[in-house]
Amino acid sequence: MPRLRAAEIKPVEPVWVIPAKGAALSQAISSPSIAKRPRVAIIGAGVIGLGIAWRLARRADVSVFDRGKAGAGASHAAAGMLAACAEAEPGEEALLTLNRDSQARWPAFADELKHATGVDVELRREGTLVLALTADDQAVLAHRLDFQKKLGLPLEWLSAAATRAKEPHLAGKIAGAVFSPEDHQVDNRKVVAALRIAAENAGAKIHEHQAVREVSVQSGAARGVGLEDGTRIDADIVVLAAGAWSRGIAGLPPDRRPPVRPVKGQMFALRMDAAAPLLNHVLWAPGAYLVPRCDGRLIVGATVEEKGFDDTITAGAMLTLLEAAWRAIPAIEELPIDEIWAGHRPGSRDDAPILGRAPLENLFYATGHHRNGILLAPVTADTLAKLILDDVTEPVIQPFGLERFLPARAAE
Ligand code: GLY
Repeated sequence: MPRLRAAEIKPVEPVWVIPAKGAALSQAISSPSIAKRPRVAIIGAGVIGLGIAWRLARRADVSVFDRGKAGAGASHAAAGMLAACAEAEPGEEALLTLNRDSQARWPAFADELKHATGVDVELRREGTLVLALTADDQAVLAHRLDFQKKLGLPLEWLSAAATRAKEPHLAGKIAGAVFSPEDHQVDNRKVVAALRIAAENAGAKIHEHQAVREVSVQSGAARGVGLEDGTRIDADIVVLAAGAWSRGIAGLPPDRRPPVRPVKGQMFALRMDAAAPLLNHVLWAPGAYLVPRCDGRLIVGATVEEKGFDDTITAGAMLTLLEAAWRAIPAIEELPIDEIWAGHRPGSRDDAPILGRAPLENLFYATGHHRNGILLAPVTADTLAKLILDDVTEPVIQPFGLERFLPARAAE
């Protein structure tokens, strides 16, 4: 494999590029001199790392490293909701633009994956219902709906009867629901499988169970990665896409490490009769979401916990989620439990992703996708590939650089 050179790790004296006061950050992190066919090392083989690998592989020699099995982290644990509209919150308008952009890319992305790999990622287009069980729930939803409609989002309030017409197995007493016709879902585990095949077919090399310990930095630029086993991999470009583990990758000065932490989510899946499912839309009920899959699995999630990398399944979490799901659809009590799991969302300080060129030559970030990793996979893959290969920053990712977390002096 001529494009990878394994060598002993030699301790190097890092030289950080810190912009002088008043100097433009973009000058200090001047464009990398990209080799004709650059060697790219991607840290993390989840949907983000694999998506970028796929998009790069035709024009770059791409190697992806993962501490475990490819796609076994948050990409496996996710529910696959593409919920740009229903989850829109005040203060997150830039994120909404990014989310909507990626949502619009999903149909073509799914088609392209099918064409490239034969894997159908099951993009289901029934849309999402946000359920109000009580008048209180309705008042909260109405308040949020008002804000969401001012942003031009295609959401509508449905009466109890209209909601039940869409989902007959809902509880006997409901107040109604917000219907989001453009918030769809994919089977995230199939997405990971497809992306892996697509990336490998395009020429990317995926190295599983090869944890990256550090970004190798020399003369103020990333020059490759050092693995836990001591192997050093030379590269022209390094992409940090290690999800919740991104901050733990050594070699970077503290303020160049992306401020990403694990946000634990516990979930479970029930098994419905695929021929007579209890639910067809994605459903946000008070206290839980429910996502029906084509094969009859009903995903129920998720807790949001600040517990580090703890992956314990707790009775309290299961009780809370089960009760919330049962209050929405009482008939679930007859269903067998299929699987229980926990995952770790990569949460940044402002819950938005960190995308783009790092304040360190040859290094790029694609991490911190928090609750939206599956939704944001297409826009992240497309825009990062364009940035890395063509040095073009799409406006939609402009607000999501690491600079927003740097002290004003360094980011000036
Ligand atoms: N996007 C769903 C979750 O983070 O639980």
